[in-house]
Amino acid sequence: MSSGARSKDDRPRMSITKLADMKAEGEPITMVTAYDFPSAQVVEEVGVDVVLVGDSAANCVLGYDSTVPVGMEEMIMLAAAVRRGLRTPLMVGDMPFGSYEASNELAVANAQRLVKEAGCDAVKLEGGGTSVDRAKAIVDAGIPVMGHVGLTPQTATALGGLKAQGRTADKAIKVAEDAIGLDQAGCFAIVIEAVPEAVSEMIVRKVEAPTIGIGAGNVTAGQVLVLHDLVGFNAGHVAKFVKRYADVRGEMRSGLEKYVEEVRSGAFPAPEHVYSVDPSELEGLRKRLNREDLESTYSWDWEPLP
Ligand code: KIV
Repeated sequence: MSSGARSKDDRPRMSITKLADMKAEGEPITMVTAYDFPSAQVVEEVGVDVVLVGDSAANCVLGYDSTVPVGMEEMIMLAAAVRRGLRTPLMVGDMPFGSYEASNELAVANAQRLVKEAGCDAVKLEGGGTSVDRAKAIVDAGIPVMGHVGLTPQTATALGGLKAQGRTADKAIKVAEDAIGLDQAGCFAIVIEAVPEAVSEMIVRKVEAPTIGIGAGNVTAGQVLVLHDLVGFNAGHVAKFVKRYADVRGEMRSGLEKYVEEVRSGAFPAPEHVYSVDPSELEGLRKRLNREDLESTYSWDWEPLP
């Protein structure tokens, strides 16, 4: 039975062992981002396997124009809210830019904060090179790590922008080496972002950890999308690999437009939204408000109620 087919009450908690089993059995892994309590509750109800509190929160909910500015305090606050809405999926906290690159000690300390203060089950960091060392240090400290190769938005400027990676043999070998390094460092899963499907397929064959694709084709063990992209909550351009499954922004806008219109026309609130009071209590209030001694107590313009 797929994990999504169980009722939410009997669904067991996801584990990294179960993710490895899913890969071995060819059962696709579902992963999505979430940044707040109500979204986490919906994701829980649907039975998603892995939830990433992505640093894409920077763009999706904090209004920054890239993932670079978001910091540890913001990520911890968002992840703690997601934790309160989740029970069964594995919850991964993204390590923001600047929280792990400088040293293994910094990386371990910040990974520990995401686990201790926000309740994350695991952390994710971007890139190969020194990130491989950081990933190993965090794994050695007892915290599961998800790697992320290909398009790594935190360092997009160095990669030439938010565009597909690994489209030449020279560039593709670098993506493959990053993935192999992270696999050997003990990452329990690796995100592959914006890489041609045929290149992803070769990388997938070279690593043991389950791979989770985002713009990496249908060859990875699982798929991840940014929640706000897939439900249509973000404004503007979305990447080629995004499929919109809903129009939340449109739904929200039409609801809000109706509300504003009804407040302005007086149609809202209607009788069913209004509290009633016993007429004798109302009469008692009227008498008390009409007492002249209130005038001297509060010195306001005393006008008797009809
Ligand atoms: O932050 C994020 O949303 C991510 C996904 C794109 C994998 O890293």
